[in-house]
Amino acid sequence: MWSEIKFMKFNKRTHTCGELRETNIGQNVVLNGWVAIRRDLGGVIFIEMRDRHGITQVVFEPNYNLESHEQGKKLRSEYVISIEGKVRKRPEGTENLSLPTGQIDVMVDKLIILNQAETPPFPIEDGIDAHEDLRLKYRYLDLRRNEMQKNLLLRHQMYQITRKYFDANGFVEVETPILMKSTPEGARDFLVPSRMHKGKFYALPQSPQTYKQILMVAGIDRYFQIVKCFRDEDLRADRQYEFTQIDVEMSFVDVEDIFEIVEGLMKNFFKEILNLEIVSPIPRLSFSEAMEKYGSDKPDLRFALEMVTLNEVFAKSEFRVFKESVANNGIITALLAKGCGDYTRNQLDVLTDFVKKLGAGGLIWMRVKENELEAPIAKFLSSEEKENLIKKMNAEPGDLLFILTGPKLKTLSLMGSLRLEMAKRMNLILPGAKPSLLWVTDFPLFEWDEETKRLYAMHHPFTSPRVEDIPLMETDPSNVKARAYDLVMNGNEIAGGSIRIHDSVLQSKMFKTLGISDEEAQEKFGFLMGAFKYGAPPHGGIAFGFDRLAMLFAGRASIRDVIAFPKTSSGISLMDESPSTVDDSQLTELHIRIK
Ligand code: AMO
Repeated sequence: MWSEIKFMKFNKRTHTCGELRETNIGQNVVLNGWVAIRRDLGGVIFIEMRDRHGITQVVFEPNYNLESHEQGKKLRSEYVISIEGKVRKRPEGTENLSLPTGQIDVMVDKLIILNQAETPPFPIEDGIDAHEDLRLKYRYLDLRRNEMQKNLLLRHQMYQITRKYFDANGFVEVETPILMKSTPEGARDFLVPSRMHKGKFYALPQSPQTYKQILMVAGIDRYFQIVKCFRDEDLRADRQYEFTQIDVEMSFVDVEDIFEIVEGLMKNFFKEILNLEIVSPIPRLSFSEAMEKYGSDKPDLRFALEMVTLNEVFAKSEFRVFKESVANNGIITALLAKGCGDYTRNQLDVLTDFVKKLGAGGLIWMRVKENELEAPIAKFLSSEEKENLIKKMNAEPGDLLFILTGPKLKTLSLMGSLRLEMAKRMNLILPGAKPSLLWVTDFPLFEWDEETKRLYAMHHPFTSPRVEDIPLMETDPSNVKARAYDLVMNGNEIAGGSIRIHDSVLQSKMFKTLGISDEEAQEKFGFLMGAFKYGAPPHGGIAFGFDRLAMLFAGRASIRDVIAFPKTSSGISLMDESPSTVDDSQLTELHIRIK
């Protein structure tokens, strides 16, 4: 009996569930959709029928149609139905102003149940407090919810804006391989064993970096791709193993050309999605300025709260901690929390723990009072130092001062974290605050890793140094600046790129500075260096983190909310349960034995 119902012929919809208005009153219509809400009021059954376009109320009334009313009694949440009926104006006083279809309902003449449904594990509605794991396990139900559908539709809109924009600007969309040679870009590769070539592996691309550069050698001139990238790194709210980039590369360009193209795209996103004009040109900060003022290479500039360097103020200090720091080329950095002078000892202890957990030795704080500073370290400072400190910080009675000191970058970044924490506590990011966009430029070309005691490319090894810094590559590599840039939105790195090295000699020099031997370079990047020998044009590019962009435009706090089928933070797909074990025979074919 049931399967008969299921396969009964049904009429195709004449309208979606979000479409009917007063102008349709009197029409006979067919709707297809799901049972969102069922209400039985004094023998009359009201069903809110849902599809991705909206909700329409349909009514089963015994006086109107006894047979369909009998059928309607069988309906439960999430049943899939097709109804035929007549649109009427809702009786006075029963209109629902929160629904676009709320002026009308449909009196049902005929109901066909297309499918039953078990009771869903969470309600199919916005703002539910179901655990995310449950939502991920039943992602098809989660995605049935309006707020999640809106996110997917936003993504769709962003793909269209992207393709339209790059096409209009003469870019060519080229697909690059998913199975490629392992050419590490900083994260760990996902590897795919080869069946045909025993002991050999493909890697999934961390990005199409080498391919897009080779496309420039091939003369493609302007390339873009909306592309999946794969990185085996620790997952966070803004990181997934597989994520999407808008990948861009251009020939015969300098930094300004890339900025212009990117700003044009950002303008379109803001205009078409939020109906906002962005500040143009997008403001710029060098990496060192960003670090010194905001303690981050992706500062959130929706609020000011600038850090201040105090090395000059304490240049001659007798206070041991400051003295050592200045002598060791360290930094003394401070943050003024306006009006927070009434923070209790307990609140200050919590903040001290906060920075200690991130690696700080401790946190110096001072309450600014009329004519004095109240602080455990106050007795170690001369009155001149206190005076200069207050002047430099523009501090007033009632304010609170924080000071951190130690090795430069580490200390600045600790203060940057405290800056964000204080912004939260002081409610500095107002709801509806204007989004802030920022270019961060002039990154160091290299960063030193204490653990492995070697230099790494801060962006990637194909990034060009500033021409004037090339001689420093051998003598003082840590002071070489890169022609690299990041685009930052509300404190998130949404894109990063660089002008590339297009000369095989300079590229070899780069590998050498990174401690990569000629043989290793040949083995790993020989194909790219080979291509550079055949007339590589000067080129550069950038890649956007598409998921992060979508997250920000959707106003969400996690990229998982804008990805249809994301992994959990421990890298599991709860719906299809991957990763999973495989048959022994599959392993044998791949020449793999699990220890
Ligand atoms: P980069 O490594 O900076 O540059 O990546 C570009 C942008 O991709 C986003 N992103 C991520 N998003 C989600 N999950 C991740 N695991 C993840 N990793 C990075 C960030 C980042 O800004 N080939 C270069 C680009 C170039 O030089 O042209 C590259 O991939 O938003």
